[in-house]
This record gives sequence, C-alpha cells and structure tokens, in this order.
Amino acid sequence: MAPARTSAFTRTPCLALMLLLGAPLAHGFSTGSGTCFTNGVAFHPSPSAGSGGFVLSAPADYMPGEVVPITLSGSAPFIGVLLYALDDNLVRFGQWQVASGYQILAACTGANTLSHASNASKSVPVVFNWTAPAAFTGTVTFNILVMKDTLTSFDISGLSIAEAVFRDGFD
Ligand code: HEM
Repeated sequence: MAPARTSAFTRTPCLALMLLLGAPLAHGFSTGSGTCFTNGVAFHPSPSAGSGGFVLSAPADYMPGEVVPITLSGSAPFIGVLLYALDDNLVRFGQWQVASGYQILAACTGANTLSHASNASKSVPVVFNWTAPAAFTGTVTFNILVMKDTLTSFDISGLSIAEAVFRDGFD
C-alpha cells in the first residue's frame, strides 16, 4: 500500500497551478511534473487502474551512503515521471542522480524529487540512481507516477526496501 498524503497541502499546489493555466507559463508542464505528489494529479485524468505493465524494482536492501539502482521496467515507453523516496515518517530523503532528460523539482522539498525534463518518449527499462544518506534512516519507500501519454498515467508507488544492518560480504 502506497503511503498517501491527502492533506489540503496535497491539493493546493495543483489548484494554484490550474488557476495559472490561463496565464502565460514560463515553463510548460511537459518540462516537469505539475505537482510534487503522486496522488495530486490535476489537469491530466486521474491515474488509470493497475500498473499499465510498469514495474519498479530495487535491490532487497541498502546500506547507508550506498547508490541504489531503482529500475522502471515495462512494455511501452513513457513521457513523464514523478519519483521520490520517503522515510518512515513520510519525509523525502536521499539524493537522485539526474540523467539527461530528467531534473530535480527544486520546489518539492529540496533535491529529493525527480521528474522528466521534456515530454520526449523515454524507453524502458530505465535506471534511476538514488543515493542513501550516510546516517541510518530505516526503510525507504519509493513513490512514483508514470505518465505514459498525456491522458494515461499509472501510480505504482509503494516499493519498500529495508536498510541493511549487516552484510556478510556474499550478497
Ligand atoms: C497539479 C498537477 C498537474 C498539472 C496542473 C499539470 C498540467 C499540465 C498541463 C497544462 C500540460 C500541458 C501543457 C504542457 O505540455 O506543458 C501538461 C503536460 C504534461 N504533463 Fe502535467 N500536470 C500535472 C501533473 C503531472 C505529473 C504528476 C506528471 C508526471 C508524472 C505530468 C507530466 C506531464 C507531461 C509528460 C506532459 C506533456 C504531455 C504531452 O506533451 O503530451 N504532469 N501538464
């Protein structure tokens, strides 16, 4: 089950954005998600049921300071993404490496939220590298909304992996 935030804060940025739609935009939404929350989509239809064949996968666990490859697989390309890592308190943490075609959404609580930088078609699989903090932080849950096309998106949030307390060197 994906951690969900359904506070007024979830909706307010979208409402503000919708009010701005009539005004000239300095940056189009095709150059990044219009919201910081995977469950806060406006303008586009609500995410479709199911996964659309998209799958998020990760190693079984992670160590502090480690670069953790998060892989988005599927059977079709996509055009947009909103991706962030949550700790047990639903606070975003860690750092995303920004590959070409992607960007950090600075407005979304610092450098912890990744999105697309254009509406160009992006092929799968694609690996998003996430660096865990050096300090112990516990379980991480990845929330992700995948926009397949302008009218179709899938919320496949909820992949959780534990922080390893010990590794024997054989895994
Ligand atoms: C408050 C939420 C949102 C609003 C108000 C919003 C609004 C819009 C608007 C007005 C457009 C058309 C203008 C343009 O192309 O720049 C657009 C396009 C787009 N949006 Fe959003 N959006 C929201 C959330 C998201 C999210 C969460 C994603 C990705 C996960 C996303 C991905 C895209 C993409 C990829 C396009 C380009 C579509 C295309 O060119 O066919 N948007 N959005």
